[in-house]
Amino acid sequence: MRYLITGTAGFIGFHLAKRLLDDGHFVTGFDGMTPYYDVRLKERRHAILSRSNGFRPVIGMLEDKAALDRAADLGEPDVIVHLAAQAGVRYSLENPKAYVDSNLAGSFNVLELARTVKPQHLLLASTSSIYGANEKVPFAETDRADEPMTIYAATKKSMELMAHSYAHLHKVPTTAFRFFTVYGPWGRPDMALFKFVDAILNERPIEIYGEGRMSRDFTYIDDLVEAIIRLMHVAPAEENRVNDGAIGETLSRQAPFRVVNIGGGQPVELMRFVETVETAVGREAIRIMLPMQQGDVPRTFAAPDLLQALTGFTPTISVEEGVRRFVDWYRTEMKTA
Ligand SMILES: NC(=O)c1ccc[n+]([C@@H]2O[C@H](COP(=O)([O-])OP(=O)(O)OC[C@H]3O[C@@H](n4cnc5c(N)ncnc54)[C@H](O)[C@@H]3O)[C@@H](O)[C@H]2O)c1
Repeated sequence: MRYLITGTAGFIGFHLAKRLLDDGHFVTGFDGMTPYYDVRLKERRHAILSRSNGFRPVIGMLEDKAALDRAADLGEPDVIVHLAAQAGVRYSLENPKAYVDSNLAGSFNVLELARTVKPQHLLLASTSSIYGANEKVPFAETDRADEPMTIYAATKKSMELMAHSYAHLHKVPTTAFRFFTVYGPWGRPDMALFKFVDAILNERPIEIYGEGRMSRDFTYIDDLVEAIIRLMHVAPAEENRVNDGAIGETLSRQAPFRVVNIGGGQPVELMRFVETVETAVGREAIRIMLPMQQGDVPRTFAAPDLLQALTGFTPTISVEEGVRRFVDWYRTEMKTA
């Protein structure tokens, strides 16, 4: 199969592309190498992918429709997976425009591209952040999710809505997956695990927000990639309708469109996460307890039932195992301690 993946120099896009290339597929990888975090890490990820003959990297910004068109011409994709985005909750307070540019204007260009390319399936990365501070847990796809707490969440929710209208008008089967705190080797330096491990190994303090009382439903990267690959094969269509009253109606009535959580439904308290990191590193952290940051949500908690019903799969790798694998990777690849 031929895939066009946006965001292949990023954490998740790299892992998805690697798995597909290892399985013998062709991947065109589109990425703008944005300087949100160390570009050398992005270049290293692309260098690894470039060892595969099936990989074609295209460096360009989503906002540049002509560059996206060139990427599609190279690969004539059967499936498009749109992962490139301005990610991060906290940075959205500092630089909201980056989110509007990449996640609204950029995603619009991907929808326009899909309208002409007509892939068998278009898959888009959304986020658990769109559930905001919902109190009903676990978060189900049928719950209301229209009280975003940050411009990051607002742009992702808007992307879902734009994608729904395009799926209705142009009949491209479209799945928007809502990811829940993804972590693992080659992960993002702006995320807690990377920052904690780096600080502990270098004897710097770690900052613990919400006085440690937040919880997150962590998803290990290999579980996430497995879920994405399985979901690729169940494009939203009548024959893939889920007949389970408990889950509720998740296929749009107006379009070949649905949203799917990818999370295991096993939230972890932040303090347990910190202890897990300390155990894996073999050293105690110097802890600075801080209040909740603006825009932070107290908890995330995925209902995994729809994912399970569609794919027969639920993420299972524990944080103890996943963090241990991250620390092993960090020690070999980031050359510290
Ligand atoms: N990692 C998580 O926990 C998580 C959780 C929820 C949702 N997501 C979503 O998953 C997707 C992938 O996230 P990630 O963790 O791999 O992030 P990442 O920042 O590592 O990867 C995103 C990639 O997109 C590229 N990019 C950003 N803006 C671009 C633009 N305008 N044009 C071209 N390229 C651009 C960046 O250079 C980067 O390589 C994103 O859409 C993100 O919002 C991630």
